[in-house]
Amino acid sequence: MNFTEELHFLKQSFTISLSNLIGFIVHFFLYLINIRKEAKHVKPTKEPLLLISATKLSAKIRERKVNPIINAVVELYKEKALQKAEEVDEYLEKCDQNELNQLAFSKPLLGIPFTCKDMFDVKDTKTTLGNWWKKENVSTTTHLVIQRMIDAGAILIAKTTTSEDCMWIESSNPLNGTTGNPYDTRKNAGGSSGGEGALIAAAGSLLGIGSDFAGSIRIPAALNGVYGLKTTSGVLPLSEFLDNPVESKMAVFGPIARFPEDLNLVLKEKFHWITEIPNWFFGKSRHSLGSIFDYHALDRMYGDEKKNELITCVSEFRADFDKILGEDSIIVHPTWPRGAAFHHGEIPYFNYIHTGIYNIFNLPVVALPYGVDNEGMPLSVSVRIGYYCDIDEEDYELLDILQIIGPNGSDGWLVELAEMIEREKEAHK
Ligand SMILES: *[C@@H]1O[C@H](CO)[C@@H](O)[C@H](O)[C@H]1NC(C)=O
Ligand SMILES: *[C@@H]1O[C@H](CO)[C@@H](O)[C@H](O)[C@H]1NC(C)=O
Ligand SMILES: *[C@@H]1O[C@H](CO)[C@@H](O)[C@H](O)[C@H]1NC(C)=O
Repeated sequence: MNFTEELHFLKQSFTISLSNLIGFIVHFFLYLINIRKEAKHVKPTKEPLLLISATKLSAKIRERKVNPIINAVVELYKEKALQKAEEVDEYLEKCDQNELNQLAFSKPLLGIPFTCKDMFDVKDTKTTLGNWWKKENVSTTTHLVIQRMIDAGAILIAKTTTSEDCMWIESSNPLNGTTGNPYDTRKNAGGSSGGEGALIAAAGSLLGIGSDFAGSIRIPAALNGVYGLKTTSGVLPLSEFLDNPVESKMAVFGPIARFPEDLNLVLKEKFHWITEIPNWFFGKSRHSLGSIFDYHALDRMYGDEKKNELITCVSEFRADFDKILGEDSIIVHPTWPRGAAFHHGEIPYFNYIHTGIYNIFNLPVVALPYGVDNEGMPLSVSVRIGYYCDIDEEDYELLDILQIIGPNGSDGWLVELAEMIEREKEAHK
């Protein structure tokens, strides 16, 4: 190492230690604040229809029972959805057996209710991304990914919460407040597709569409104990999500579901952080702390020059990585290094490095649940393969939330693999 590298290394180590120290202090205070609060959780559903996969059914939704507890729904389209469901029923009654057989191909999702993150334009619905200034913004078009779901026969029942501008790993925003984890509402439901993760885990929705720029599908899947697929870029259409070609390659859409087989069904007002942080503490900011932090962190870390340097670095690294992975190997990597923290407890950390790395490499990843920790929260620890990873040796045995990473374009067989693991788990129960 030469002197500049040495200095850079020291700077990084210092930043990491400082962030750990701040993290420790923040956690201590959050613990003191939260320990006296009542821990609410969503009771398991007894409704058998809700415990089978969306592939096998179109079902009733129990949004009204769970949402007051977890606050995951932005808007519910009950009337419209019921009307569409009735139309489907009437249509099915008129079909003969031949037509019914055809439907499996022409309308594979007929009658299946689904939800999407409040980020997707859906004609005549509000699309806010949690921004106070988009409070009344009604979309005039429907995003291609959502349109495909609708064309396949699925029925949109609600839009769900996200972090402001999808910029943080906790779904808390000035318009719709904070989403609670169904296992313990005092804790983080993840982000930015946190509304989807929480609602699906609570059996309030069967299938959801989220977006993943650095883990925004996999982190909520991990923290709520459900399945999430980050697709390879290009597998699902993107249309005008991000202007920058590199960033837009990192950002993809994908499904969140209670069952791995259902994953296959879907195959900036700017502000200044210096003024916003004090505003936030005095309850005067119109932004959430996570997005203030993230905008700052991203802006500071990636100036234009540095960005170009990183892009070259990434393509070299990616080529090496492709060689290691070949055409048929997989990597198993923790989605998240622990169970969900108390609300706002993730601010000092960069744990989304565990998920974000695969956005940079543009590889498909499935996040899958594997159990809960001793506080009853879905866990997020697994096997380490050749990677730095912020967990203790004894934690490896816990093998909880896994993310499986496959080669370029292997989205389909990754889902099959997840189904296989699910069957094994069932067989060992
Ligand atoms: C969330 O915010 C939107 C936009 O202001 C509003 O229409 C909606 O009713 C809010 N939902 C909840 C549950 O607060
Ligand atoms: C409202 O949404 C439309 C897209 O549906 C967008 O073109 C427009 O800029 C948005 N307005 C605001 C204030 O965000
Ligand atoms: C992934 O595979 C597709 C074709 O299957 C190819 O067009 C694309 O360039 C590949 N991406 C990378 C990053 O190798």
